Amino acid sequence: MSKAGRLVVLVSGSGTNLQALLDASADPSYGARVVAVGADREGIEGLARAARAGVPTFVEKLRDHPTRADWDRAIAARIASYEPELVVSAGFMKILGAPTLDAFPVLNTHPALLPSFPGAHGVRDALAHGVKVTGCTVMLADAGVDSGPIVAQEVVRVLADDDEAVLHERIKTVERRLLVEIVGRMAREGWTVSGRTVRIGNQPGGGST
Ligand code: GRF
Repeated sequence: MSKAGRLVVLVSGSGTNLQALLDASADPSYGARVVAVGADREGIEGLARAARAGVPTFVEKLRDHPTRADWDRAIAARIASYEPELVVSAGFMKILGAPTLDAFPVLNTHPALLPSFPGAHGVRDALAHGVKVTGCTVMLADAGVDSGPIVAQEVVRVLADDDEAVLHERIKTVERRLLVEIVGRMAREGWTVSGRTVRIGNQPGGGST
């Protein structure tokens, strides 16, 4: 089976980034399509979005495994069964371990301008710091927390009346567009990684068989 353009998307919540990828995939010229959606919990809107789109889903809960290492192996095996070219962690609230990271490129999205404000509360932390601009980052995942090589970033202004929810929604509007653009370009054009520099285009890192 050709892996070209096959995406496994991992979610833990509302899944609006997933929805943007599902919508983009409807056009064959996009070059990528979501072949499965994985989650670390049940009952989330992200899984419902996948089901409505007719995309297979799987759930691997940490507590169903005796150790974290067992969970790491289990989710890697689930992902592998769909033979993805690229894994997209889109609001997935777990750090993936070596079994997944060693086997697949994993793209991650974060609602802040890394390396500032990594972790689960990037929007809250940026607001608390009083920054005047923040934004979103699309990066390749590594073993750390939001520490992998950066693929793309966009800036979002912080407005005087912003609270966490309002600012996060404004960031997510930009984040969804950027994620869709970057995933499509990686699938169509390929990419290379050299140290911390990611280059899309004219290279065989992706978009291959
Ligand atoms: C996104 O802002 C993502 O970067 C962050 O959580 C949000 C997920 O949103 N980690 P959704 O589930 O895609 O709507």
